[in-house]
Amino acid sequence: TERTFSILKPDATRRNLTGAVNAVIEKAGLRIVGQRRIQMSRQQAEKFYEIHKERPFFGELVEFMTSGPVVVQVLEGENAVAKYREVMGATNPAQAAEGTIRKLFAESVGENTVHGSDSAENAKAEIAQFFQDGDIVG
Ligand code: GTP
Ligand code: MG
Repeated sequence: TERTFSILKPDATRRNLTGAVNAVIEKAGLRIVGQRRIQMSRQQAEKFYEIHKERPFFGELVEFMTSGPVVVQVLEGENAVAKYREVMGATNPAQAAEGTIRKLFAESVGENTVHGSDSAENAKAEIAQFFQDGDIVG
C-alpha cells in the first residue's frame, strides 16, 4: 500500500463541498488517514508550488490557494498516487472524465477543487511539508 498527498482547494471549502469530495475519495477505495483544515500562508503556497514559479499563472495560483481555507489530507491505498490522479480527473475540468472529482465539481482550470501528488517521491515530500508522523493514523 502507498500514500499520497491531497488538498481540497479553497473553491471546495467555499462551496461547502468537502464532504461530497471525501465521499468520492472513499468510494474509490482510498482511506483518509490524515486530515486537517488550514489557512495556507503565502509562504507555504509559494514553497508548495515552487516547481511552477516560472509559469505565467504562478501569481494567480498562489493568490487562489491562499484565498480561503483548504483541507490537507494523506490518502492511503493500493497504488494511491495513480489511483487518486485518476479519481481527480484532468487538470482542466472541461477535459475531465465522467465521475471524476473535477468533472463533478470543478469550475475552471485554475479553481479545480483538488490537488494530488504526481509521484510517490513528491507525495513523501508534500506530506512532510504539512504533516507530522503522529498526525497520520493508518
Ligand atoms: P495539481 O494536482 O493541483 O498539481 O494539478 P495538476 O497536477 O493536474 O496540474 P499542474 O501540476 O500542471 O498545475 C498545478 C495547478 O496549477 C493546477 O491544478 C491548477 O490549479 C493550476 N493551473 C494549471 N494551469 C493553469 C492555468 O492555465 N491557469 C491557472 N490560473 N491555473 C493553472
Ligand atoms: Mg501537479
